[in-house]
Amino acid sequence: MARRLTTARLIVASHNAGKVREIAALLEPLGVEAVGAAALGLAEPEETGDTFVANAALKARAAATASGEPALADDSGLVVPALDGAPGIYSARWAGPGKDFRVAMNRIQRELAAGGHEIVGAAAYFICALSLGWPDGDCETVEGRADGTLTFPPRGPHGFGYDPIFVPDGRARTFGEMPPEEKQPLTHRARAFEQLATLFRSGQ
Ligand code: IMP
Repeated sequence: MARRLTTARLIVASHNAGKVREIAALLEPLGVEAVGAAALGLAEPEETGDTFVANAALKARAAATASGEPALADDSGLVVPALDGAPGIYSARWAGPGKDFRVAMNRIQRELAAGGHEIVGAAAYFICALSLGWPDGDCETVEGRADGTLTFPPRGPHGFGYDPIFVPDGRARTFGEMPPEEKQPLTHRARAFEQLATLFRSGQ
């Protein structure tokens, strides 16, 4: 049973300034102020879970228990079923220490080819697990998903990560070719937020 959020601010359990900004913008219409974990000097826990949900929950719980306030965490990534779900929870790590997503996108193309799979048009989806943690260790986790197909070579100057190879269902352009206002409503993150907003309002 979900708990109602009664406070006007939430700790965002991320040290990534871009992610904190994006989450703050999604929380604003709900009348909730977002405060980044880095601003509070909270430590970043290791992502030891083997699912998006487990990693989001462990980050939310760690921030909520350390700060004594409700905390929100997300964990996201790209899933390619033909690659047995890779890169999945390792999506950030596939870019290497230099965080170069050309490396990660090339690896997807290479592994699809090596497995004899269709490359352009391969099914893929983004997942975002969002977890709302409470200082007593309780937490609520929801998941949002955006389905699409892959295309190579990568296209478009916008977005981040795997955006240039992902074509959402029903569209011809990649996320990388879409300006933020066009991509935003189609994302796994927005879909996860819709569910959280429902929890906030209904408390069910
Ligand atoms: P996290 O910060 O551990 O959740 O890692 C998520 C990784 O998944 C990011 O580094 C991105 O590469 C990838 N990712 C998540 N959401 C998106 C998106 O909307 N577009 C492109 N890549 C994404």
